[in-house]
Amino acid sequence: MPDTRAAAEAAGLNPDRIPVHIAIIMDGNGRWARERGEDRLFGHWEGYRALMRTVYAADALGVRYLTVYGFSSENWQRPKEEVDGLMGLMLFAMQAEIDELEENQIRVLFSGRIHELIPELQEEFASDMRRTAHFDRMTFHLAINYGGRAEIVDAVRVLATKVRDEALDPNTIDECDISAHLYCPDLPDPDLLIRTAGELRLSNFLLWETAYSEIYVTPICWPDFGRDALILAIQEYQKRIRKFGKVVE
Ligand code: IPE
Ligand code: IPE
Ligand code: MG
Repeated sequence: MPDTRAAAEAAGLNPDRIPVHIAIIMDGNGRWARERGEDRLFGHWEGYRALMRTVYAADALGVRYLTVYGFSSENWQRPKEEVDGLMGLMLFAMQAEIDELEENQIRVLFSGRIHELIPELQEEFASDMRRTAHFDRMTFHLAINYGGRAEIVDAVRVLATKVRDEALDPNTIDECDISAHLYCPDLPDPDLLIRTAGELRLSNFLLWETAYSEIYVTPICWPDFGRDALILAIQEYQKRIRKFGKVVE
C-alpha cells in the first residue's frame, strides 16, 4: 500500500489534518471549452480526465472519501445534445475506468435518482458498486441526477412511510434520523467543499451534509484541476479553524 502520510508531507501538507471527506462541484467545463473555441462537450471530456487525475491524487494523499457532482437534477434543462453527450460520457468513463479503480482498491458509489437514468447506466453503476463494495481504502462517490433538495424529499418520504406504518414515532425524529435516510448514510459529512470556476453558490449540492463544511472556491475551471490544485485547496483547508459553533481559543 502506498504511504499516504509520506505523500502528504512531501506535498507540504500536515498528514494529521487531511480532510477525511472532500466534496467537489466540478464547474467550468463549458467556459473552458469556449475559451478554446471548442464545443461544451469537449470541455466535459477534458473534465473527465481531470476527474481521474483528482481521484488518484486524493487517494495518494490519504483522503478517505471523495464526492463529486457529476450531473444535477437541474442539468436536464440543458440542450438535449449536451445531456445525451454527458450520459454517453459517463457510461464510457465508467466502463473504461472500473478495472483500474478496482485494481487500486477504490470503492465506487453512485447516488441521486439513479432509477431515472438510461438502463445502460443503471446496470453499469450497479455492477461497479458490486465489484468494489468490499474495499475500504478510499470511496469515490459520484452524485448523478442528484439534487440536495430531492435527497431530503426522498428521505422525508421514507420517514413519513415509517410513521404511517407506525414503525416510527414522529416526536422522536432527530437530525440523526434524517442523516440516516439520506442517500449515503455511511459517509461522514464533507470536511472540505471545493468549487471550481469561481461561482459562489451551492447549486443544490449536499445541502444537508455541508452544514459545517469548509468552503474553498478556486477560479480555475474544472478541466485544469488536478493534483496541484487539490494540494492548494487542502493547504488552505489546513489553515482554517473549525469551530462548529463553539468558542475556540
Ligand atoms: C460543469 O461544467 C459540468 C456539469 C455541470 C455537468 P459546466 O458545463 O457547468 O460549465 P460552465 O459552468 O458552463 O462553464
Ligand atoms: C453544478 O454546476 C452541477 C454540477 C457541477 C454537476 P452548474 O453549472 O449546473 O451550476 P449553476 O447552474 O451554475 O448554478
Ligand atoms: Mg456550470
